[in-house]
Amino acid sequence: MANSGQRVVLITGCSSGIGLRIAVTLANDEKKRYHVIATMRDLKKKDKLVEAAGDAYGKTLMLLPLDVCSDESVKQCINNVKDRHIDILINNAGVGLLGPVESISIDEMKRVFETNFFGVVRMIKEVMPDMKKRRSGHIVVMSSVMGLQGVVFNDVYTASKFAMEGFCESMAVQLMKFNIRLSMIEPGPVHTEFETKMMEDVAKMEYPGVDADTVRYFKDVYLPSSIDIFEAMGQTPEDIAKCTKKVIESSSPRFRNLTNNLYTPIVALKYADETGGLSVNTFYNLLFNFGPLMHITMSILKCLTCSCLRRRTISPN
Ligand SMILES: NC(=O)c1ccc[n+]([C@@H]2O[C@H](COP(=O)([O-])OP(=O)(O)OC[C@H]3O[C@@H](n4cnc5c(N)ncnc54)[C@H](OP(=O)(O)O)[C@@H]3O)[C@@H](O)[C@H]2O)c1
Repeated sequence: MANSGQRVVLITGCSSGIGLRIAVTLANDEKKRYHVIATMRDLKKKDKLVEAAGDAYGKTLMLLPLDVCSDESVKQCINNVKDRHIDILINNAGVGLLGPVESISIDEMKRVFETNFFGVVRMIKEVMPDMKKRRSGHIVVMSSVMGLQGVVFNDVYTASKFAMEGFCESMAVQLMKFNIRLSMIEPGPVHTEFETKMMEDVAKMEYPGVDADTVRYFKDVYLPSSIDIFEAMGQTPEDIAKCTKKVIESSSPRFRNLTNNLYTPIVALKYADETGGLSVNTFYNLLFNFGPLMHITMSILKCLTCSCLRRRTISPN
């Protein structure tokens, strides 16, 4: 149970990656300012988190089951929190989806929206009324650079994050009237199981209904570039946890929080030209016309960011 003065933080999707690291970082806060409720849909996956949390487990960190795709699970989880009192809700749970749209079933696309969009909406709907009554609270949403800028072959994942950005941009205004803050965290690539899971899915892909040219662009042009970008620009879950901690500790938290400065110019392209031509043409040229140049640039960047020595962790095979 939270001590008086401690802020209650509930985080979704803590079995791995960013959610796990945010939970551990906040639970190990030197001043013990947080009572962390780390949730995951399958508590059998708790070992990694419990081990990483160390002494904090059972003190400043507790666990609850929560599947953001289930109304019942969400309600039950929040009802299990003392007085349903949550000061900070961190919506982190999410799934990726990569590949040519022709090869992805509508059911798979719905699963992504069910988790990344409706999962967040479900959580906010459950927690917001209590926050409104108390006239206080902070809702944090793990978005992505792909919630701001479309990325080829990530069409459906990007759409789910855009949907959430639109939802939150609209909600933020109303919530401010109730003294509830809303913040988006917008990472670029982060080295977690997310990339591994996506690459495993890609390796199993059979591309039904996709023409040979598209398969070739995806496998031989997009995937190698994507791997280069991950290796040159990828952050760690610790980086994202630190950024999230900063956001929740700020006296006037920002609505948008890009975690990776290297992405600022990419996002800026979109706003520099209202016709959209600049960003669409730039991405087209980068991928299809300047592929080798981009590879060299990313290799230089890898060296500059000292990640050239990092083991190749991901591969489309
Ligand atoms: N990694 C990146 O490059 C990157 C970049 C930008 C944004 N993000 C975002 O960061 C967030 C965390 O991703 P990550 O990189 O840490 O990936 P991850 O290691 O795969 O973690 C995703 C977490 O979400 C959980 N989850 C999935 N579906 C769920 C559901 N229905 N209910 C509850 N939990 C569920 C997973 O639980 P299970 O173990 O049960 O599957 C896992 O704990 C996601 O929202 C993602 O979109 C990631």
